[in-house]
Amino acid sequence: MEQIDRWDYAGEGLEESQLPAAPWELVRSWVDQARRRNKAQGDLPEPDQISIGTVDEHGRPSVRTVLMRYLEPAGPGFYTNLDSRKARDLAANPQIAGTLTWAPLFHAIRFSGRARQLDRDVVRGYFESRPWGSRVGAWASAQSQPLHDRGELEQRVHELEQRWPDTGRPDDVPLPDGWGGYVIECDEVEFWAGRSSRLHDRLVFVREGDGDLSTEGAWRVERRQP
Ligand SMILES: Cc1cc2nc3c(=O)[nH]c(=O)nc-3n(C[C@H](O)[C@H](O)[C@H](O)COP(=O)(O)O)c2cc1C
Repeated sequence: MEQIDRWDYAGEGLEESQLPAAPWELVRSWVDQARRRNKAQGDLPEPDQISIGTVDEHGRPSVRTVLMRYLEPAGPGFYTNLDSRKARDLAANPQIAGTLTWAPLFHAIRFSGRARQLDRDVVRGYFESRPWGSRVGAWASAQSQPLHDRGELEQRVHELEQRWPDTGRPDDVPLPDGWGGYVIECDEVEFWAGRSSRLHDRLVFVREGDGDLSTEGAWRVERRQP
């Protein structure tokens, strides 16, 4: 039998009494804690990485990691190519799930709900904040499509770099029509807190009424078995 390194999840856990009336405040607080932890200890690189699950028109699932570069009471969100596999999946079926996992903190948050495309002004604001190379890259990559070889991609990047040289201005590369973002409008938000002997705490906010992550009275809480 192969030797397995076992790690006891000796987290502090999570109690009902620690929960706000709606999930927003605790989402914010755990995200901030993960970001601070990485700044202070460097053991949580990319604290904003989120695994995103979608299904295609035949119900076939697909999961990939993206960066959560949008976080508002409306929900967590990310930016991507609007013709990618995930975008095609979402066009056929807007059901979506996302999980943030911070093992060094013994914390995870699971979101599920429906994806809505972010408004163009929000997308533009984020696009213009990205480094020049990433903005050029967004044009160069027909994300999820086959590529003959690496050289083909690099040639395209080279041509685009000539077309839109780096002037230091945020709008020197135009926003591609085919690049955008999604927010997860949640029906469930689960806070997972790892504890010893795999007897973790799972407290789940389940949507009962209209509103967003900050709407008090729109959520009930359910504890689930670990
Ligand atoms: C840490 C990390 C961060 C990533 N961030 C993004 C992102 O913000 N947006 C994105 O479209 N792809 C991102 N990717 C690439 C995706 O995992 C994936 O390869 C790509 O989006 C294509 O997925 P799809 O073919 O399922 O649409 C990231 C990958 C990793 C490992």
